Amino acid sequence: MQDKQAALVTGANRGIGYELVKQLASMGFKVILTSRDPKKGSEAAQRLADSGLDVSFVVMDVTDQESITQAAMTINETVGRLDVLINNAGVYLDGNAKLLTMDPEILERTMSTNFFGVYHVMRSFIPLMEKRGYGRIINVSSEYGAMSAMSSEGAGAYKISKLAMNALTRLAAAEVRGDIKIFAVDPGWVSSDMGGPSAPRTPKRAAELILRLATMGSEGPRGGFFRDGKPIDW
Ligand SMILES: NC(=O)c1ccc[n+]([C@@H]2O[C@H](COP(=O)([O-])OP(=O)(O)OC[C@H]3O[C@@H](n4cnc5c(N)ncnc54)[C@H](OP(=O)(O)O)[C@@H]3O)[C@@H](O)[C@H]2O)c1
Repeated sequence: MQDKQAALVTGANRGIGYELVKQLASMGFKVILTSRDPKKGSEAAQRLADSGLDVSFVVMDVTDQESITQAAMTINETVGRLDVLINNAGVYLDGNAKLLTMDPEILERTMSTNFFGVYHVMRSFIPLMEKRGYGRIINVSSEYGAMSAMSSEGAGAYKISKLAMNALTRLAAAEVRGDIKIFAVDPGWVSSDMGGPSAPRTPKRAAELILRLATMGSEGPRGGFFRDGKPIDW
């Protein structure tokens, strides 16, 4: 088993996920960069490894249970531990469509990635954390997932998926045993492919704020919602 603490980030070939990997590796973690696309993922991991960071690549499509199970087996065999898990992979497919008139497939595909993806990844990786009685899980959420966001129309599929993910975060935190904490974090409006170029926050800054929770000590809450490193009431 690795002496170094290990971290895994989903959807990490670009955007906030890529920055999370870079910063976790700079903090001294052995980091597993995962991506659904083998070429994009391995190239991203190689770029970081070439700059001297301890980053390796494992393919994982969070909408494919077989792919998640396979990734968990590989990491169990090769690394043998997981200290930090960041569920970052996400899609925003709504465009201008309205919930009640959109192709229902938009809602189904959004839930499949943003909600069921997080559920299946947690199910597959928490046993690895429980083996050592330690883990920090961060689910990348959004202010669109707050209950108050449900009162205005727009982005319906995305909002529901993040609201459900927030509920899952709370329930899972109540179920796990040992020093395992599970948080949902709002990264703010971030200038990635998803957030667009006018967003005020860089992926680098978003990752810094998200990672304040990755090394939280055993004191404090087992779960909950955070923005900019501070608890928020959703
Ligand atoms: N940007 C913002 O303003 C903002 C605000 C609030 C919350 N967030 C959340 O922050 C997280 C990261 O978003 P981002 O802004 O960095 O977006 P992004 O640049 O669009 O990156 C999304 C990442 O998720 C991956 N992904 C999508 N479906 C996947 C699947 N089935 N399996 C594995 N990976 C998958 C993408 O991979 P491909 O390259 O293969 O597509 C990509 O690497 C998301 O959960 C998002 O909802 C973002």
